[in-house]
Amino acid sequence: MSPTRRQFALGLLGAAAVPRWARATATLDGPGLRTLAAAKGLVFGTAVQRNQLEDAGFAAALRREAAILTPEFELKWSTVRPAPSEERFGAPDALADWCRREGMALRGHTLVWHEALPAWVPRFPDAAAARILMTAHIAKLVGRYAGRIQAWDVVNEAIEPKHGRSDGLRVSPWQSALGAAFIDLAFHAAAAADPAAQLYYNEYGLDFDTPEEEARRRATLSLLEGLRARGVPCHGLGIQGHLTAVGKKFNATRFSAFLDAVAALGLKIMITELDVTDHALPADPAARDAAVAAIAGDYLTVACAHPAVIGVMTWGLSDRQTWLNSSPDYRRRDGLAQRPLPLDAALQRKPLWAAIARAFDQAPDRRV
Ligand code: XIL
Repeated sequence: MSPTRRQFALGLLGAAAVPRWARATATLDGPGLRTLAAAKGLVFGTAVQRNQLEDAGFAAALRREAAILTPEFELKWSTVRPAPSEERFGAPDALADWCRREGMALRGHTLVWHEALPAWVPRFPDAAAARILMTAHIAKLVGRYAGRIQAWDVVNEAIEPKHGRSDGLRVSPWQSALGAAFIDLAFHAAAAADPAAQLYYNEYGLDFDTPEEEARRRATLSLLEGLRARGVPCHGLGIQGHLTAVGKKFNATRFSAFLDAVAALGLKIMITELDVTDHALPADPAARDAAVAAIAGDYLTVACAHPAVIGVMTWGLSDRQTWLNSSPDYRRRDGLAQRPLPLDAALQRKPLWAAIARAFDQAPDRRV
């Protein structure tokens, strides 16, 4: 394949002028995103499914690119406790063992969420039952993985301004049973089970310059301010970062101001679930890859420049497996597989990989 004009130009400049990420983009064996991130004191990782580890090629790509993993669904209520008397820890245990053997860190996702709840959970007879059930579940999971899971998404997606509450909270089984205090309760239960764990509030829709996402940012900030004012042990905000390649405007100044406001509360920030849906783009893979890389690059340039941001995780490493292809809201109408992640289905690095690498390469060095 003839080199692109860019590659030819970079060639004329000589290797010295080629940044590490550009040298790595074209080859499988260049430094992975974990190395490029660590060179600036950042961490890079991804969500993974336990069965993906059985694929040697994928496992090799994971070792090369990621320093921290999140189980995509193996720690969610519906998976880990499908029935009151049934606990399934085999998969999360296997993931934790793999991470320990590979020297990788592990993030827990997620202790309290309105989704992935087995039918038996939200049938709370009263508030006391809901409190007991929620805190016992948290104590069991956080206690079991204490020392092996370094950070937890304690509460996930508790904001929904469309539900019309003055506090912008989502009307969920937990909120209905316990009121807004369910959030405080969850964080205190997690801190009691593992005082060393970093405890995060995780949220989506905080990224773009739209009235809806501005309302979500405001409600999230208000929630975090309340937690901090009440001394709730919340250490950070997880910004999911489920981006869309077209259709929404990204305002770097506004997003950076949001990061400033979160950081002013003394909170760390992790981009926890980055992917870029291309469902609204034409079919051409190269055009989709370019648009996906462009928005991710703009977004991560701002995020990685902010001192409160400690790292970036994608919600999957390869287009081979992405939730977006099964999501009713995001799957493509033409039936084509989406291309939202850093590696393609053949585990080759894509323009999105280079955009992430470039954001790390341009980020200030936190190590100094
Ligand atoms: C998704 C998983 O990737 C899917 O496999 C599952 O069917 C639905 O949940 N935000 C979150 C994640 O916090 O837990 C969701 O994960 C994606 C959106």
